[in-house]
Amino acid sequence: MNTEKLIDETKQGETLQLKNNKKNTRKLFIESYGCQMNFSDSEIVASILTNQGFNTTSQLEEADLVLINTCSIRDKAEQTVRKRLEKFNAVKKINPGMKVGVLGCMAERLKHKFLEEEKIVDLVVGPDAYKDLPNLLEEVDAGREAVNVILSKEETYADVSPVRLGGNGVTAFVSITRGCDNMCTFCVVPFTRGRERSRDPQSIVNEINNLWNQGYKEVTLLGQNVDSYLWYGGGLKKDFKNASEIQKATATNFAKLLDLVATAQPNMRFRFSTSNPQDMTENVLHTMAKHKNICNYIHLPVQSGSTRILEAMNRQHTREEYIQLINKIRTILTDCAISQDIIAGFPTETEEDHQETLSLMEYVKYDFGFMFMYSERPGTMAARKLTDDIPLETKKRRLNEIITLQQKHSAYRTRQFIGKTVEVLIEKESKRSNEHWSGRTPQNTVVVFPKENYKPGDFVMVKIDEATSATLIGKAVGQK
Ligand code: SAH
Ligand code: F3S
Repeated sequence: MNTEKLIDETKQGETLQLKNNKKNTRKLFIESYGCQMNFSDSEIVASILTNQGFNTTSQLEEADLVLINTCSIRDKAEQTVRKRLEKFNAVKKINPGMKVGVLGCMAERLKHKFLEEEKIVDLVVGPDAYKDLPNLLEEVDAGREAVNVILSKEETYADVSPVRLGGNGVTAFVSITRGCDNMCTFCVVPFTRGRERSRDPQSIVNEINNLWNQGYKEVTLLGQNVDSYLWYGGGLKKDFKNASEIQKATATNFAKLLDLVATAQPNMRFRFSTSNPQDMTENVLHTMAKHKNICNYIHLPVQSGSTRILEAMNRQHTREEYIQLINKIRTILTDCAISQDIIAGFPTETEEDHQETLSLMEYVKYDFGFMFMYSERPGTMAARKLTDDIPLETKKRRLNEIITLQQKHSAYRTRQFIGKTVEVLIEKESKRSNEHWSGRTPQNTVVVFPKENYKPGDFVMVKIDEATSATLIGKAVGQK
């Protein structure tokens, strides 16, 4: 290619860029519900639409396009979204030019039905179809139906550089896998997010390097099941068995990926979520032990302490295997915090099953927990094969017992920090007081302490004087 032409093209590119920036007159209001992955996806969507002439706004009333990234995990999550659509409807009456789009899991689950059920909706886009948004918006402008809910075998958005939305400038999410192949019988995710695929490790490292250069200090690697991360050149996880010998020999698994990112940015903190007990390997634990900058914190959902219920949930491990994994974690990693997800009142759960959940909790003494009542999801194996037979009152009572016990354990865990000095990465001002900073320890516990001359993004050593069940309170004793 001749040099003149090259220069010419670069110039054209630059003018186009300038024009684009000026042209960004349309306003996008985007809101996310549900898991961290949805929040991360919204940043990808914002990036795609920035290139289409949109700037984001936090004022719903002035938006030309309102997007809601939705969650289907429990019925209550869907109800929250429907309520929000009512609010959008009221605003649309004042601003009839406003378009409303639904993204994420509810879009995928309900597809065209959304347009019929919620008259306000102009656009329905599933989690793998965000790159089609520019075309879909043209359809909307032309007054046509705009629905794309096609699930993909390859899409990882590796080539989209996310626009960071409403963050603190210190911590960020980076997605490493999409979809899930596990088919837990209660869970709608495999239906709404499709088959599992992993993202090119090089694009992950590049994104992390960019974040570091922008001043970010902590990254959480995201996936429905990070332990099953596997890059062998692209494609579905389930097709790995057909990969070539070279692909197999050079594949990157989760332990390798952790090693890669922790080495690439040795001063950045790394977390990951979510781990699945059936896939977590000892290598991951050794890699965590090897790198100081990988936080000693594992979110390890268990769902139930009863092997019979675990089997009915299609979780691929028993109570005993889970306990063995906990023991392994405690042996390999000192001071590792562990948190849980637990479901109360799964079909057929007896009082004995419930007691087994409580006794497992008593054994592990989790640092935190996310606890839910079972909510039947249409289309799942549990909905098709089992009756949602636990009365609401029983579900509620069991959930309350689980929550009460968790609070006791959280308080026990935070108490252990009193008198100790911990490393805190400052994230933001404390919600309760503008004279205090709020940050987290590697174990993910929130710490609040007087600001002095420190600032967000600083790693500070803090001596802990007091603790509630969720927060540590102390005083800085110096920069790390
Ligand atoms: N692996 C995923 C899990 C997604 S769902 C992740 O990255 O977090 C998060 C949690 O929601 C699950 O661990 C489970 O405890 C809960 N959950 C999922 N489906 C549910 C249902 N039908 N009813 C109640 N809770 C559910
Ligand atoms: Fe859902 Fe089980 Fe996957 S909880 S996201 S099917 S690991």
